[in-house]
Amino acid sequence: MKVLVATEKPFAANAVKAIKEEIEKAGHELVLLEKYTEKAQLLDAVKDVEAMIVRSDNVTPDVMDAATKLKIIVRAGAGYDSIDTAYAKEKGIIVENTPGQNANAVAELVLGLLVYAVRAFFNGKSGSELIGKKLGLLAFGNVGRNVARIAKGFGMEVYAYDAFCPANVIEEAGVHAVANQEALFDQCDIVSLHIPATPETKQSINYALVNRLPKGGILVNTARKEVINEAELLKLMADREDLKFVTDIKPDADADFAKLEGRYFSTPKKMGAQTAEANFNAGLAAAKQINAYFADGCTKFQVNK
Ligand code: 3PG
Repeated sequence: MKVLVATEKPFAANAVKAIKEEIEKAGHELVLLEKYTEKAQLLDAVKDVEAMIVRSDNVTPDVMDAATKLKIIVRAGAGYDSIDTAYAKEKGIIVENTPGQNANAVAELVLGLLVYAVRAFFNGKSGSELIGKKLGLLAFGNVGRNVARIAKGFGMEVYAYDAFCPANVIEEAGVHAVANQEALFDQCDIVSLHIPATPETKQSINYALVNRLPKGGILVNTARKEVINEAELLKLMADREDLKFVTDIKPDADADFAKLEGRYFSTPKKMGAQTAEANFNAGLAAAKQINAYFADGCTKFQVNK
């Protein structure tokens, strides 16, 4: 049985080694397609594989059509918006993710971006501190929970809103639950986005919502660029010179945001989950899930039921 690792943004070497050992231990063969630049390479590589491990690689209908033996795709990570899950379902291909495995890495980056933002992007001028500031988490999943844990260590007051997580669960984690996303932006100095890109959330971070932030507010995005209405955020940041925006996902309008000197920063390539630990955890979990599926049909982490 052939298992393909197709990663345009490759895993750390330790993770590839662990995935290979795990797959071979179960008697399967590992095929690697790393740092590919053309879709044709992916179309060619999927031809004779039964399973695939990907990151945010686009798995579109043409990829699945080319993969005539494919039974399972495991997204080594949380967000699976890059995979056409409905088409996979139609074709009887299982799609899974590995929730939580890279959450700490993303959460640590949130705090890194925040320190950078409040310290005036290390420009030598006086900045401010995170202690005592109110941090709002939009969604309280694995990443949000890790951000809360670390932010409390900085002495921040943490608030959260999650449409799918009851307030008592948020409160039990020592975080203030608020009634809706508007209240989060009203009450917090900083809002960190942890929502997936879905039809409901796409473009939802707009002028009216972000304008609720108090003076000096900061928006942090380590989720997906699609959730932000870029044109409206640009307009708001032009209207309000006190706001900052830091992101791990380069917006399409990066060049326009970059003109907002001293108020905007984007990592050059999404790197929230780009640590040896996260790669190892998510990659190995993906390999184990593939082995479990072929051993006894386990589909515990299926996202396209
Ligand atoms: C995720 O959804 O798991 C994160 O956004 C990380 O994505 P990546 O594997 O593409 O870095």
